[in-house]
Amino acid sequence: MAILNILNYPDPRLHMVAKPIKEIDATIRHLIDDMAETMYDAPGVGLAATQVNQHIQLILIDTSKTKDHLQVFINPKIIAKSGEKEYEEGCLSVPGIYESVTRADKVTVEALDRDGKKFTLKAEGLMSVCIQHEMDHLLGKVFVEYLSPLKRNRIKSKMVKLQRDR
Ligand code: NI
Repeated sequence: MAILNILNYPDPRLHMVAKPIKEIDATIRHLIDDMAETMYDAPGVGLAATQVNQHIQLILIDTSKTKDHLQVFINPKIIAKSGEKEYEEGCLSVPGIYESVTRADKVTVEALDRDGKKFTLKAEGLMSVCIQHEMDHLLGKVFVEYLSPLKRNRIKSKMVKLQRDR
């Protein structure tokens, strides 16, 4: 396994749209293992393939406190959503920034697991937020895009400066 490089906002590659995965082969499983190691090392509760510069529909989430409940979503689709909830979000691609975003309170997602088996999950709370946040990455969307242009530009400048000073 290996720790992968995470793209940082405002890297334009974070805005690429991910393609569906046609076949879950050894290469995909290898990427899942590397992404899991990268996410736990960061540490984070979710990671989308987009963030490691792989533009395919794959996201990983583990919201457990014990960090031993990895959930893999391949080609995820939200088939139902309800309610509204505001949650303070962060992102491994926008380190150190936490801002409130309003999203659906509950979502039902359909996806394939790492063995290619289809499953349906009803999620609420942090899990629901994570699914929506990570699925946005697959569409090339970073959570700061929900903020006002003023706030977003401030974050952008901060990130650019941070990367320049590194
Ligand atoms: Ni993120």
